[in-house]
Amino acid sequence: MAITKKQGASRIRELRTELAEHNRRYYVLNAPTITDFEYDLLMQELATLEKMFPEFASADSPTQKVGSDLSDSPRKEFSQYPHRFPMLSLGNTYNPGELSEFDTRIRNVTGGDTEYNCELKFDGTAVCLTYEKGRLVRALTRGDGTRGDDVTSNVLTIGTIPLSVGETDFDFEIRGEIYMPYDAFDRLNAEKEAQEETPFANPRNAASGSLKLLDPSLVRNRGLECVLYHILGDNLPFARHTEAISWAREHGLPVSEHTRICHSMEEVLEYIEEWDSRRKFLPFPTDGIVIKVNDLALQKRLGFTAKTPRWATAFKFKPEEALTRVFSFDYQVGRTGAVTPVANLEPVQLSGTVVKRATLHNFEQMISLDIRIDDYVYVEKGGEIIPKITRVELSKRHPDSPKPVFPTVCPDCGSPLKKDADEARHYCPNQDGCPQQIQGRFLHFASRKAMDILIGEATVAQLYDKGLIKELPDLYALTREDLLKLEGWKERSAQRLLESLAASGSVPFPRVLFALGIRHIGETTAALLASRFRSIDALKNATREELLSIDEVGDILADTILDWFSHAEHLEMVSRLKEAGLRFELDEDEDKPLSDSLKGCTIVISGNFSVSREELKKKISAHGGRNTGSVSGTTTYLLAGEKAGPEKLRKAEKLGISIIDENKFAEMIGEASAAEDTLF
Ligand code: IVH
Repeated sequence: MAITKKQGASRIRELRTELAEHNRRYYVLNAPTITDFEYDLLMQELATLEKMFPEFASADSPTQKVGSDLSDSPRKEFSQYPHRFPMLSLGNTYNPGELSEFDTRIRNVTGGDTEYNCELKFDGTAVCLTYEKGRLVRALTRGDGTRGDDVTSNVLTIGTIPLSVGETDFDFEIRGEIYMPYDAFDRLNAEKEAQEETPFANPRNAASGSLKLLDPSLVRNRGLECVLYHILGDNLPFARHTEAISWAREHGLPVSEHTRICHSMEEVLEYIEEWDSRRKFLPFPTDGIVIKVNDLALQKRLGFTAKTPRWATAFKFKPEEALTRVFSFDYQVGRTGAVTPVANLEPVQLSGTVVKRATLHNFEQMISLDIRIDDYVYVEKGGEIIPKITRVELSKRHPDSPKPVFPTVCPDCGSPLKKDADEARHYCPNQDGCPQQIQGRFLHFASRKAMDILIGEATVAQLYDKGLIKELPDLYALTREDLLKLEGWKERSAQRLLESLAASGSVPFPRVLFALGIRHIGETTAALLASRFRSIDALKNATREELLSIDEVGDILADTILDWFSHAEHLEMVSRLKEAGLRFELDEDEDKPLSDSLKGCTIVISGNFSVSREELKKKISAHGGRNTGSVSGTTTYLLAGEKAGPEKLRKAEKLGISIIDENKFAEMIGEASAAEDTLF
């Protein structure tokens, strides 16, 4: 249907505003509300309209600029620096036919064969590293393409990025992607869920959110990784892109192994088809394939548009999604009282599993999706633990489908729900009387990373309903007789539970602290507080100033801790748990460094030694050092034993890293050396 100029102008305006908002949600807030595919569709629609009505073209249009990740908050968290070369985006398509158009455009210039390099499109956040005289001097985000945020100290926490690549004849910039492997993403989100915080929607958001954390020591624990794929500089000595990448590999820079040179579109399509299935087995997220002209002189001739290079393009994979129907909504109350809406779905197959439920995070998300009972919705996995609902298929909506009615009282105990002004979630304030919250606390307390007690949801509910457990210490008062009186319990099951309760007496203090379920105290924070204060009594007596003097502790955590210890019932609970034999302090020598002779040293171990690797790792940390797996510019020593990896040795030599043997190591930490030991 033809569209008038007036309609065109109005739709262009609408799309520009909408896309600018989606850019902000994606690049700045790391919380997109639409999928990449939907975003690309909107962008395509805008590009088509701008082609139809060139009179409305504008250098300000989202089709002409890269989305900006620069924070729009008035307080600039990072210093910003200009990019020497603009940092552009890539044109993309979901359609193999359009790839042939890309190929034809290039062949029109070359008049013949073209060599392409096909690469995986890593789904993370772009970064630009500048090396001068072989040393890393700065890492910038893409920013708005002309200037980026300086994230050098955060990037330096990524073990595979070398601080130095040895002597080089030229300075260069190397660009790539910081990404989060699935296992690190699952771990991070599990931690967030345990804390009842909103998890990241996907590994990409988690990666860019982590790269913009203000404290590098927190970034270190996020498990970020990096792959580099584009080198720039003046008069670089390379004729082909693949030569430049091989040079980078030889100089210890992390580059991808999964690339292929192709000479025709058939070969490119074969690569795409192969990786569309193989990528499901990769441990990190990819969202497509990048096709690059390999000849650098030709790249130069082809040049750039305002936003993208003409010598490269991306073929994007469609995310796997399924369409299914919403049966009903449940509102679940977690152990901290937060209420999470859950959609019950007609079971549907998605990426190898059957999906029956999807979380919706909070009421606001339900409102922004405008989701209703009986609606057909798209569910997507994309690496997330719990599938998410991405959108509603409005064309299938029943005209009478009712809007959801949000509960105003706790679905479990009936207390009126509350909502803090700065939090997106509603919560039940009845901490001590709400059965769901209480049972949730038992489950958290017993979980594997906490006290590791063999008790599940059904047992907790059974013991709670029978009035046998109400507060955490009640678990330790359970007797064999109590348990045998319950339906379904036998000698064996009672014994198993009692044994695991007894064994929990030796769980170390950091895990006990985590098990208490104090808000904002996850596993890592518990370990940090335990090592800093060493006992629950010291933590209880800590002043606000003492708490705030710890780098990782901010106002919210400090206030939460102070508030928790101000409740008499919490003190009573700790004292009963102490009586039950739980460990509320670190032992004298537990976790205490023996010396700081290795302080600030990062040590890689390779080869066989007279003691086990675990033993060596313990020694490194007991003397204040850090152990990492791979040699990079941040490595201080390579501790090499018999049959040490030749790759590691070569790399350490190239980077000028000291290689030490077991004797030297023993000497450094003030132990008699292994050689001396054997003399006596
Ligand atoms: S080359 C001039 N190669 O995808 C542009 N980019 O959606 C050079 N990306 O901005 C980029 N994997 O952040 C290139 N193998 C790869 C890539 C890749 C992921 C990212 C990059 C780019 C974005 C475009």
